[in-house]
Amino acid sequence: MFNTPPFFWIMAIRILVGAQWGDEGKGKIVDLLSAETDYVVRYQGGANAGHTIKFDDKKIVLHLIPSGMFNGNSKCVIGNGVVIDPIALIDEISEVENLDVDLKDRLYISSSAHVILSYHKVLDQVKEKNRGSDAIGTTGRGIGPAYVSKVARIGIRVGDLLDLKTLEKSIQKNVKDINKALEHVYSEPTLDAKKILDELKPAIEQIKPYICNTTQLLHDAVENGESILLEGAQGSLLDVDHGTYPFVTSSSPTAGGACAGSGVPPLAITHALGISKAYSTRVGNGPYPTELHDTDGEKLRKNGAEFGATTGRPRRCGWLDLVALKYAVRLNGLNELALTKLDVLDDFKTIKVCTHYELDGEKTEVFPLDVEQLERVKPVYKSLKGWNTSSRNIESFDDLPELAKEYINYLEEYIGVSFNLISTGPKRNETIVR
Ligand code: IMP
Repeated sequence: MFNTPPFFWIMAIRILVGAQWGDEGKGKIVDLLSAETDYVVRYQGGANAGHTIKFDDKKIVLHLIPSGMFNGNSKCVIGNGVVIDPIALIDEISEVENLDVDLKDRLYISSSAHVILSYHKVLDQVKEKNRGSDAIGTTGRGIGPAYVSKVARIGIRVGDLLDLKTLEKSIQKNVKDINKALEHVYSEPTLDAKKILDELKPAIEQIKPYICNTTQLLHDAVENGESILLEGAQGSLLDVDHGTYPFVTSSSPTAGGACAGSGVPPLAITHALGISKAYSTRVGNGPYPTELHDTDGEKLRKNGAEFGATTGRPRRCGWLDLVALKYAVRLNGLNELALTKLDVLDDFKTIKVCTHYELDGEKTEVFPLDVEQLERVKPVYKSLKGWNTSSRNIESFDDLPELAKEYINYLEEYIGVSFNLISTGPKRNETIVR
């Protein structure tokens, strides 16, 4: 089994980010790199993420637990920047344990991470319903409202779960306010604070042993020269500051968010690895210049099994957008890239890539930050010849079909960073390391 990529070296402190709109195949790459990593750390998002890992004929979709559980013995940390739904987390803990993984001394949960309570999920869904045609298309997992509570300084942190009396008071206070909004603003049924606490109690008991000061844990790791992989969820173009606002998630999946969401200091970071598919997808609403509404789009969805790992929603599909990818490279300071799902393009006669946009009649290679402008851009494509043969099970770059190499070389030339890893299938061994 392939599990030690030669380009990886001990002591690296690497941020791994999605370079598109999420679903780039980050789970597989984290799993691969974790064999030689001391710590794998999730730094933002919550159970909106769905990181799929396939190994030995097994498949698991992780939402909160870092993707480093199944390859090697890395310590897996849910960092302070994550918003944690304790009920979703205990389900996931059981799933991992069912695969014969012992979480003792493997899982660490930050006491400073914020908690998603059922009222956040209710608010997420009620607000989406009320947005009507302006809906963001959220996952409904309570992510936005939980980050709102955090920033409004009324959030409940994981450490607060350990003191039931104070927890009860905080929940009562928050539910009182939320009920006013539910009743008077949204005309929705109100919530019962006691019921919320009662539902939470068994989950608290189960996650208690894993709660600790992960910031200190990671500071010690940095000082001891241990290797750390900071695992981003979602993607750069869904970043609350740098993405297609307001059609974004409520956290910072970009490299900048990794330090804030983990406590690892910026100057300790040695590598920034971006993950991009060989084409593009997006789930939820918002501008997407290279989206296809034709048979090629259908074929990408079918070949790539492009359905949400968390919600099952069909993903919107389109050609690779190099303007957007280059923006992500610059935004995250990416010095490494992984290209995933190359095999999905195996049976296309022609493959297109967007090299620039036309905005109000002018050519531009700049990714507009204003969604209305982004809605108006017309993608301009370069057509490349497809290779029309399988790329699965190919072990070295040199053995790839000539036209596939040309495709990759073209992308690298445009972006200015090379693809160290090329994934040609969902399994660990279906990865070319350069
Ligand atoms: P939220 O994160 O649930 O608030 O959803 C906000 C937007 O981010 C929606 O368009 C979601 O479809 C999208 N989103 C959230 N998590 C993921 C993910 O893990 N992959 C892809 N899109 C996501």
